[in-house]
Amino acid sequence: MLAMNYRGPRRVRIDRKPFPEIKHPEDAIVRVTRSCICGSDLHLYNGNVPDTRVGMTFGHEFVGVIEEIGPDVHNVKVGDTVLVPFNIACGKCAFCKQGLYGNCHESNTQATAVGGIFGYSHTAGGYDGGQAEYVRVPYANVGPTVIPPDMDPDDAVLLTDVLPTGYQAAEMGGIQPGDTVVIFGAGPVGIMAAKCAWLFGAGRVIVFDHVEYRLEFVRNYAQCEVYNFREVDDVVVFVKKLTDWLGADVCIDAVGAEAAGNAMQTITGRKTLLQAGSATALHWAVNSVKKGGIVSIVGVYGPTDNLVPIGNVVNKGLTIRANQTSVKRLLPRLIDHIQQGRINPKAIITHRIPLEEVAEAYHIFSAKLDNCIKPVLIPPSARS
Ligand SMILES: NC(=O)c1ccc[n+]([C@@H]2O[C@H](COP(=O)([O-])OP(=O)(O)OC[C@H]3O[C@@H](n4cnc5c(N)ncnc54)[C@H](O)[C@@H]3O)[C@@H](O)[C@H]2O)c1
Ligand SMILES: [Zn+2]
Ligand SMILES: [Zn+2]
Repeated sequence: MLAMNYRGPRRVRIDRKPFPEIKHPEDAIVRVTRSCICGSDLHLYNGNVPDTRVGMTFGHEFVGVIEEIGPDVHNVKVGDTVLVPFNIACGKCAFCKQGLYGNCHESNTQATAVGGIFGYSHTAGGYDGGQAEYVRVPYANVGPTVIPPDMDPDDAVLLTDVLPTGYQAAEMGGIQPGDTVVIFGAGPVGIMAAKCAWLFGAGRVIVFDHVEYRLEFVRNYAQCEVYNFREVDDVVVFVKKLTDWLGADVCIDAVGAEAAGNAMQTITGRKTLLQAGSATALHWAVNSVKKGGIVSIVGVYGPTDNLVPIGNVVNKGLTIRANQTSVKRLLPRLIDHIQQGRINPKAIITHRIPLEEVAEAYHIFSAKLDNCIKPVLIPPSARS
């Protein structure tokens, strides 16, 4: 079958790989009909995630058709059209039982922090992902969710990560009615966080980025204020000025380890890897939220220490909330938001690219060419 193949930093290509096989009675094989490239894939692509092995297939955002099931799979059947959450979760451990599907204790037994994730290095379990024609889906009674018949598959594929992540970013912010919410990052996740902040009752939503077309997009899509951080002297002071010198009620980091905007962070965090990524957006979030405020982090960081201003967290009495998104927990209410027309995720899809052109797709998304917000890869069998 055709599958994306990681060859090393900034080198990916399409290759032929063996068909995946059922390895456990609760596995399913899914024929992929759409898969996205995510900002999280860029951390892998750029070589910033430890133990990303040559030969791996990325892709944790995909939908498709159940092709084959193991003997103990009862919740889906062959022929079902499903969306598959990016978290691989057993559904039975102490953490899954709490709804913390991103922190499953069974699907990634080599690690104690994160659970398994499709196509996300061996630090997240070493599972091949869905930027391929077929993918093995473990614990198939738990993750795969039949797509409602009236739902557009483009909306469904954004329910596997991006919409739930933007929503959870807003939810973790504990937004109170009328709050001022500042979001760093106008990628797909930041865009969804801005949209969802209103659903929680925000009174004002402000987004920072330095890519103009993305700022323009989020301004229209989420009706928010936008600022280019390159055009602002000092982001923190600027936020204070916008908020009567108090600071934002809630700050959301939707950027993660590859933030731009601070030369020292870029050199130590991205170029020399002396710390686990550049924490510029996180600094800005901690320093521009008000005293007693909440910082919500969905941007992904490496597993070891970052130079974060922890002293300011203590002195300001901040609450920091962060996690990988628990997709399955959020699906019922997000399906309802889509069906009621309160949110239209598919509007962020800007590019549909044949799976065979995966290398070009990574290049476009990573270099932010051609006004790209969200690219979707379409395998040959899904094109007609
Ligand atoms: N927690 C989760 O479950 C989860 C799920 C999906 C994605 N993520 C993470 O969320 C982050 C965003 O994902 P995405 O798909 O939107 O990625 P993306 O790379 O498309 O977008 C990131 C945006 O941040 C902007 N940016 C860079 N430095 C900045 C700064 N200092 N301040 C403000 N903006 C800055 C970039 O220009 C870009 O537009 C990534 O770190 C990704 O790994 C987390
Ligand atoms: Zn993703
Ligand atoms: Zn579990």
